[in-house]
Amino acid sequence: MSAYDLSRYLSWFQSYIKGFYFGTEEDVANMDLKKDHSLRVLQEARMLTDSLQLASPLADIVHIAALFHDVGRFPQYRQFKTYNDRKSPSHARLGVVVMRGTDILDRLLPEDRKLVLGTIFLHNRPVLPARLSSAQSLIVRIIQDADKLDIIPTVMANLDLAAAPSRVVSWGFRSTQITIQRLSTRKSPTANPWI
Ligand SMILES: [Fe+2]
Repeated sequence: MSAYDLSRYLSWFQSYIKGFYFGTEEDVANMDLKKDHSLRVLQEARMLTDSLQLASPLADIVHIAALFHDVGRFPQYRQFKTYNDRKSPSHARLGVVVMRGTDILDRLLPEDRKLVLGTIFLHNRPVLPARLSSAQSLIVRIIQDADKLDIIPTVMANLDLAAAPSRVVSWGFRSTQITIQRLSTRKSPTANPWI
């Protein structure tokens, strides 16, 4: 199996997150939320790399980064019982700590490992540092787009305008938070509040 073969990373991911599946029904549902999100972001990233016609190994690096972009969510929830980065260390930073604590990325070329770690670290930044390599900038932007492609329908599907804000779940992008705040102050929801 090639070091860039996604199935190797998928197996590691599935076995890593198994250790977080315990506790109440709510705890398990919150784990599922991030597992399913990670896998859907991977699907969105694959669609984007296909449409951009990115070749290997760049496309493989994007896929690995997509799968692991939120890996810090699992220890974040277990240690701090929240997905809110303002109430705990940033899940992006925690994700890098997780990946540094395993040898799963060791078979990648050092520069490619650095791209995966850099993407995990930067993926939730609304503004990216100016001096990034073009490869790093491209990969982070693809992951951010894949993340948004997944988050927007999920927000819409779960948006209950009458409900109190979740204690656990918050949305990473400030623009999304503002939109939700605006939506929740509307008197009556429209069929398509994005318009
Ligand atoms: Fe994230």
